[in-house]
Amino acid sequence: MNYRFANRMLGMQTSPLRENAKKNMEESEVISFAYGFPPTEAFPMETLQEISQKIYTEVDPQLLLQYGATEGYPVLRELIKERLATINHIENDEEVMVVSGSTQAMDVAVKVLCNEGDIVLCEEMTFSGAVNAIRGYGAVPQAVPMKIEEESIDLEVLEEMLRMDIHHRIKMLYLIPTFQNPLGTSIPLEKRQAIYDIAQKYDVVIFEDDPYGDLLYEGDPIPKIKEMDTDGRVIYAGSFSKILAPSTRLGFVMAPDELLEKLILAKQVSDSHSNFYWQVMLAEFMQHYNFEAHVDFLKALYKENLTAMMDGLDRLPSEKISYIKPTGGYFICCKLTDTIDMKKFYQYLEEDKVVVIPGNIMSVKGAGYDHYIRLNFTKPTVEEIITGIERLGKAVDKADMKEIYRAS
Ligand SMILES: Cc1ncc(COP(=O)(O)O)c(C=O)c1O
Repeated sequence: MNYRFANRMLGMQTSPLRENAKKNMEESEVISFAYGFPPTEAFPMETLQEISQKIYTEVDPQLLLQYGATEGYPVLRELIKERLATINHIENDEEVMVVSGSTQAMDVAVKVLCNEGDIVLCEEMTFSGAVNAIRGYGAVPQAVPMKIEEESIDLEVLEEMLRMDIHHRIKMLYLIPTFQNPLGTSIPLEKRQAIYDIAQKYDVVIFEDDPYGDLLYEGDPIPKIKEMDTDGRVIYAGSFSKILAPSTRLGFVMAPDELLEKLILAKQVSDSHSNFYWQVMLAEFMQHYNFEAHVDFLKALYKENLTAMMDGLDRLPSEKISYIKPTGGYFICCKLTDTIDMKKFYQYLEEDKVVVIPGNIMSVKGAGYDHYIRLNFTKPTVEEIITGIERLGKAVDKADMKEIYRAS
């Protein structure tokens, strides 16, 4: 059969991250900093077992197993709204829809807002799932240059891009403002406000993707852009993948009524609704168990890992490998000095059985970040982190052309 695939598939790529993850699962002796995964001990097995038993005996099967509302289980939607108000200080009269992972929130947002050829502005390095969602509808992801040291996008260029957009092809600005993937950085408050003001000036929607926001390990939380939203221009998406379990495929999206109605419609044709078994499980967890204690447990667990990784990196020569310290989330992004031969670096890492994500994989253009690597610190153990970072240091030394010239 000669399959004639639609043009929209041309720009979509299988995630090298997921392929990498599959490979790593098969090789148990590999130390992987590649996954954006939680470790096994992050899953609250006993609590989930207890809730599962309870809901099968106590909850009406018509709720648990029947078709349900596209926008989600009303009790869960209310609990998410309450949690947003109390924990994230997002308090407004907007509703939330439960989605199948925050990836779906982005998918339906692009579906609803973008025609083919429209533009979605993204941070230069960003989550590949979002880029695929954009391309999947024939829209075009366009990179806004970053000022990594300032933990932000370049606001002057952002404004210039919007000012030059005389045909109004830019429909949305996709941002991961808190504990960015892959950078681990967080846009400072005053820049968040400036971004919001620019978006308002040029009348563009902001999609605030926030799957890591709850995982704050140090300092005070920075207010969400959604908190500043006075005219319903911010679509805010959250996820339970990182604070409960990715396989639940539960996330949520908050938007003004007019927009949410369209997002609900777009989801309806996609998967009718998200899994009700897990929606009821989560609602029960949030209502009758101590969900926040579980999130606190995760924060303590990951803080230890982050500290071990930063300690290890701080022992390496900073002129060869540098990074911005994250205060939360899942990732550290390192910049290796230009004299490092990256091909050799990856070869040495592979020989030593350490896996990292190359920066260009996370680059919207697929280029420009070849001396950057993303390291995940939540999945490996502290011991693996210590050994893995030592090996990384050796690979950096061995692949540094400056050292090689000096020796010869
Ligand atoms: C920035 C960002 N958004 C969304 C997701 C996907 O989250 P979910 O599992 O809720 O679809 C990820 C996961 O890795 C991510 O890094």
